[in-house]
Amino acid sequence: MPRTLDPELCHALAARIRYYNEMGIHDFYRRPPLVGSVAVQQPSIDVSEHSSEHTTEPGEEMSPRKAIAAATAVVDEAILEPISLKPEQSVSDPVQALKIIREDLGDCTRCVLHKQGRKQIVFGVGNPNAELMFVGEGPGADEDEKGEPFVGRAGQLLNNMIKAMGIQREDVYIANIVKCRPPGNRQPERDECATCSPFLMRQIAVVKPKVIVALGATAAKTLLGMNSSMMQLRGRFYDFKPTGVLSNDPNWDGCKLAVTYHPAFLLRDPRQKGEAWKDLQMVMKELGMKAPKPTT
Ligand code: URA
Repeated sequence: MPRTLDPELCHALAARIRYYNEMGIHDFYRRPPLVGSVAVQQPSIDVSEHSSEHTTEPGEEMSPRKAIAAATAVVDEAILEPISLKPEQSVSDPVQALKIIREDLGDCTRCVLHKQGRKQIVFGVGNPNAELMFVGEGPGADEDEKGEPFVGRAGQLLNNMIKAMGIQREDVYIANIVKCRPPGNRQPERDECATCSPFLMRQIAVVKPKVIVALGATAAKTLLGMNSSMMQLRGRFYDFKPTGVLSNDPNWDGCKLAVTYHPAFLLRDPRQKGEAWKDLQMVMKELGMKAPKPTT
């Protein structure tokens, strides 16, 4: 569990971050100190490019005070998050490694979602060697029923988006920020995301994708530790490394992360499908993929 920083230190860190931001510096890298024999690895998030080119969606802009509080919260968690060797790290077969993570999760009671009507844990599905990974928010009723992410209406649309890229659902890996259905399909709370996402980080470190597509704001904000609007987050790649875990592959140094609209949002506002397709085309270019020719 992340410890709370001394408020004065928080304040000083927030002031320092603001000072650097005002000087146009937005990227921070922490020199990896050694914990035992394991180097602590921080998420490498580049937020410098383009961010000022976008306008902000109404109602989503943060006040400077909130922004500092958010930055401080990120610093707070990131700075004290220990890295421990995970049992799957000694296993080279990703199928086995994912099984170990699933077993570790057990019949999870780590957050309140376990007692709010979930039928089962929805772990993740797909190619354990996938180059492309999709991360959604959390299971809905259909997913809770079947134990598989994105099998309802939003899942059908996601399948179509994947097909439009010229690949199949089986080629990619699909998971969510939280693995239990939030009651009434509410958004998962921040503490629920924080409790559950370490397991997702471990899945990412096993699958070692080249690109992650964050579907919607919850996935994007949780993975990137940023509290920006979708408009600000989309349209570019971020360098991403899972926090709190090291991959057992020295050749995998993290991946690219792109943000696009959640399929459930696209079902509500199909006019944004073109924008989502632009995001996916950017991903396809990165992966050297070509869209299939439309059949007549
Ligand atoms: N929405 C999500 O975010 N995830 C699912 O698995 C299904 C719907």
